[in-house]
Amino acid sequence: MWTKENIPDQSGKTALITGANTGLGYEIAKALYEAGAHVILASRDEKKTNQATENILALPGKGAVESGILDLANLGQVRKFAEMIMEKHSRLDLLINNAGVMTPPESKTNDGYELQFGVNFLGHFALTGHLFPLLKKTVYPRVVTVSSGAHKMVKEIDFDNLRSEKSYDANREYAISKLADLQFMVELNRLATKSGEDIISVAAHPGITQTNLSRHMSQEDFQAALDHFKVKALMPAWQGALPALFAATSPTVKSGDYYGPDGEFELIGYPGIAELSAHAVNETQGKRLWRYAQAATGLNFPEIPKDNI
Ligand SMILES: NC(=O)c1ccc[n+]([C@@H]2O[C@H](COP(=O)([O-])OP(=O)(O)OC[C@H]3O[C@@H](n4cnc5c(N)ncnc54)[C@H](OP(=O)(O)O)[C@@H]3O)[C@@H](O)[C@H]2O)c1
Repeated sequence: MWTKENIPDQSGKTALITGANTGLGYEIAKALYEAGAHVILASRDEKKTNQATENILALPGKGAVESGILDLANLGQVRKFAEMIMEKHSRLDLLINNAGVMTPPESKTNDGYELQFGVNFLGHFALTGHLFPLLKKTVYPRVVTVSSGAHKMVKEIDFDNLRSEKSYDANREYAISKLADLQFMVELNRLATKSGEDIISVAAHPGITQTNLSRHMSQEDFQAALDHFKVKALMPAWQGALPALFAATSPTVKSGDYYGPDGEFELIGYPGIAELSAHAVNETQGKRLWRYAQAATGLNFPEIPKDNI
């Protein structure tokens, strides 16, 4: 049973966590701070971010905390945020792409993408790409992508509907964004290996955990989802954060791994290997997504000739 007490000393390491003002991101940031890391909380709401920073600093941790405003629904702001981080920091050991939005009413990012695809995947792709020079300066940096068991609900990404051109189905778009997250993790591992980078790309999911993620669901729909999976109690946020913390810090982790709770259907439990769907590891799909995201953001990382991806 792996818990945060097993986290190795993180002194000297710098960790950036998206969506760190609440839920899983907050618990991840707190645990890394307690273990000695310099933690950067990246969240979009200044007031909530400052409050989270104060709360963490009031704890008896041995790390440091700073905060920055990051709106993943705005690619221009993601670039500016990353530039600010690159100016201030000379290393980035852990990038934890955690922030997420689930089943909102139909809406789009500043750049016109369906909100869940835009925030959960594309904003994180852009953030990772802009921060890539900093990751490259660090020895064995880790990029942890937070996905979901929901990625298994879809078989592929509909590239003709990423701006909701055809229709909007909130559950389907969430599942697509989480499939994209895993294809991103798998492709980043493959491309980093190909280009000789020492980056460790891994993913995690929290099973079913009590956070604000269901804020856009009605009480009835939420209960129906719990009944469907025969879930009696949600995990507390500290426990749901463990798979991501394991992926971020365990020395046994291998690039390309995916972690989740080890209980039945990966819904609750302690960190264990999680199951990737066949579509998450499909190289043809992953390459297509990568090329799409490169075109959407203008980013090329790792530095591989485009026709060699
Ligand atoms: N909880 C679960 O059972 C569960 C299950 C599977 C996967 N997950 C995944 O776990 C991750 C964390 O979710 P959570 O459960 O902790 O949910 P949460 O409590 O709702 O936290 C989500 C975080 O993402 C931030 N966020 C949303 N839109 C953003 C944007 N445009 N730019 C920057 N940050 C943004 C939120 O900021 P605000 O507070 O300002 O909105 C919040 O900090 C997500 O990727 C989610 O898909 C959760």
